[in-house]
Amino acid sequence: MNRMQGATLLKYRDHRYLKVASALVLLAMAAYLLSGRAGDDAFGGTVLGYLLGIAATLIVLMLMLYGVVRRRIGGTMGRRQPAKDEKATRGEKPFRAGRLEGATLQGWLSAHIYLGVLLLVLATLHTGFHFGWNVHTLSYVLMLLVIASGLYGLHAYLNYPTLITLNMGDDTLDDLLLMIAELDELAAARALALPDEIQALVQKACRETRVGGKLWEQLSGEQRDCPTRYAVQQLPELSATYGRNDQPKMIRELYAMLLRKEKLVQRARADVMLRARMTCWLFLHAPLGIALLAALTAHIVSIFFYW
Ligand code: HEM
Ligand code: HEM
Repeated sequence: MNRMQGATLLKYRDHRYLKVASALVLLAMAAYLLSGRAGDDAFGGTVLGYLLGIAATLIVLMLMLYGVVRRRIGGTMGRRQPAKDEKATRGEKPFRAGRLEGATLQGWLSAHIYLGVLLLVLATLHTGFHFGWNVHTLSYVLMLLVIASGLYGLHAYLNYPTLITLNMGDDTLDDLLLMIAELDELAAARALALPDEIQALVQKACRETRVGGKLWEQLSGEQRDCPTRYAVQQLPELSATYGRNDQPKMIRELYAMLLRKEKLVQRARADVMLRARMTCWLFLHAPLGIALLAALTAHIVSIFFYW
């Protein structure tokens, strides 16, 4: 999804779902204040409390349904869509990217986002602001986590595609990795004529610099003690030691190569980071949604058990 689509998503059909959600928020707040029982110890158990709880639960069910609808329609709002042949070769139904499906999915996601935020208000009013170390509050906390991860996902879908384009320009990740490998070869060859200490520095930078790697490195876009960055920092110091003999030009050229490589590595890592961040949040969001459903079931069952 590009930034344009993201903006359409929030404005979908002249802000239809923003309007619906805002009206319901105002209605719930007014009812809460007028009920005269705001702050009541067992507000969740009043008539309004029950209504708010039931409305919140229906919204959770609708939000969970989005996962099913998305698979039915076969689209991915924020992720790469498999090419037609790619799916066909796997024997699946080819993706029907018709305008109707696209629009329907956008409508569902637009509603998903605003209803998710509405849920926060309804469920909070339902609790009457009473929390404790119990399964009721567990469901509330899980709900907060699902909403927070959803907001992060929305932020990623709205902003990261533009950042990816700005960072990569016309290059692909493979292009960058190829340029890095070429610079590694050149730098290693140039270092052969230089003192052992410099050679060791360059070889370490060639062998041990990673793009991607562990999950944490992908998400942070960093490699701890990156050997290329270290080589760029150390080379000027070493060149001061060796600068008086006949090699300063070679060292300067080597330094320029390492600097270029460092820039390319940074760009490649930023690309991996943005793509990983666009994908990874959903691995939290959907399972947390399922955990919320389980905790909510326990909350409701326990309420009727003690009734
Ligand atoms: C998203 C949905 C829901 C969430 C996040 C939620 C969360 C909570 C929380 C945090 C409390 C306060 C617990 C306390 O005082 O320590 C509460 C109270 C209560 N909830 Fe829910 N709830 C939800 C849905 C429901 C539904 C559907 C029902 C009924 C069918 C319900 C019935 C109650 C009742 C009766 C209380 C008062 C319990 C008491 O005072 O002992 N809730 N809820
Ligand atoms: C309790 C609240 C929520 C629940 C239970 C929930 C549940 C889900 C589920 C089940 C999916 C589908 C996952 C999949 O197909 O793999 C999903 C996707 C998504 N949700 Fe939520 N969600 C909630 C709140 C939110 C909120 C508040 C936002 C944003 C403000 C949000 C944004 C998204 C986005 C952007 C997607 C991915 C859309 C796509 O790739 O097609 N969600 N959510």
